[in-house]
Amino acid sequence: MDLLQTRVTGVDFRNPILLASGIWGESGISLTRAYEGGAGGVVTKSIGSEPRSGYPNPTIEKNGTWGLLNAMGLPNPGIESYGEEVRYALSRGVRVVGSVFGGTAEEFARLSQAMEALGVAAIELNLSCPHAKGYGSEIGSDPEALAEVVRAVKSAVRLPVWAKLTPNTADPASLGRAAERAGADAISAINTLRGMAIDPVTMRPILSHVSGGLSGPAIKPIGLAFVWQVFEAVHIPIIGIGGISRPEDVFEYLLAGASLVEVGTAVMEGGGPLFGQLARGVSDILVTHGLKSVSESVGAAHRR
Ligand SMILES: Cc1cc2nc3c(=O)[nH]c(=O)nc-3n(C[C@H](O)[C@H](O)[C@H](O)COP(=O)(O)O)c2cc1C
Repeated sequence: MDLLQTRVTGVDFRNPILLASGIWGESGISLTRAYEGGAGGVVTKSIGSEPRSGYPNPTIEKNGTWGLLNAMGLPNPGIESYGEEVRYALSRGVRVVGSVFGGTAEEFARLSQAMEALGVAAIELNLSCPHAKGYGSEIGSDPEALAEVVRAVKSAVRLPVWAKLTPNTADPASLGRAAERAGADAISAINTLRGMAIDPVTMRPILSHVSGGLSGPAIKPIGLAFVWQVFEAVHIPIIGIGGISRPEDVFEYLLAGASLVEVGTAVMEGGGPLFGQLARGVSDILVTHGLKSVSESVGAAHRR
C-alpha cells in the first residue's frame, strides 16, 4: 500500500486517513487501537490547561438519519496528566498529532509548547468547538482573533501548526486566508456544526447544554464545499474532516483539495478496523483511476 504514503507539513504518514480529535482520544490505549486498526495517524482529544469535567448528561444524541449531536463541553484531564497517554501512544510507534484548546493566544501557545515537549509530530489548534463558551469557535470565527492565536503558537513552537476551522461562518475563504497569513502550516476543516434536538415527549431540548455540534453523514457535503472553497483561497495543505465513513468519501475529500482526512463519528461504530478498510478501499480507487499517489488526486476535481 505504498501508494498511500504521504508527506504533509513535513510529517510522513503511512496513509492519509487519521483519527479525528475527540473520538477515542481519551487514552493512549485507544489512540494506539486506532493506529493498529490501520489509521495513518491519530489526533488527540483537545487538551486544555486544567482538568475539565465537561457538561452533565445527556451530552450525545444519536440519530440514524442525520448522525450525531454532541455537547461534551471539552472534558479532558488537563495537559499535565494527559502527557502519560501521549507517551504511551508514542512508545507504540503511533504517529500522534496533539490537539489543544485555550481561552487566549498565550494559553494556546503554552499548551502547544507542552505538547511539543511530549514529542508529538504536529499541533492542531481547536479554534472551532461550537459549544464551549469562551473557547473554540468564539475565537475561531473572528479572522483577527484566529490569526493572533496562530501567530502566538507559531512563535512558541517549531512543530507544524494546523489550524482547525469552524464551519459556523459565512466566509470560509477569509478564515483560511487569515490562518495562512498568520503562518499556519495547514488548515483542518471542518469541526461540528451547531445544531439541536428536542424531545417531543418531554417537550424539552435533549442535550443538557441545549445546543451541540452536529457530525456524521449529514455534514459531508458541507465539509466538502468548505474544503473546496479554502483550497481555492490558500496555498497550504488542507486536512478534510466531516462525515467520512466509506473509501469513496475519503476520495471525494482528496479530489476537493484535502491532502489528509480525519474520521470521527464513523469510528464509534466501525472501530479500529474501519481505518484498514478505508485505506484498502482508497488504494483500490487510486489504482482504478490510474493514480500513482495520494498527492496526484489532491485537488484533482478543480482541474477537470
Ligand atoms: C463526541 C465528539 C467529540 C469531539 N471532540 C472534539 C475535540 O475535543 N476537539 C476537536 O477539535 N474536535 C472534536 N470533535 C469534532 C471532530 O474532530 C470532527 O471535526 C467532527 O466530528 C466531524 O467529523 P465526523 O463527521 O467524522 O465526526 C468531536 C466530535 C465528536 C462527535
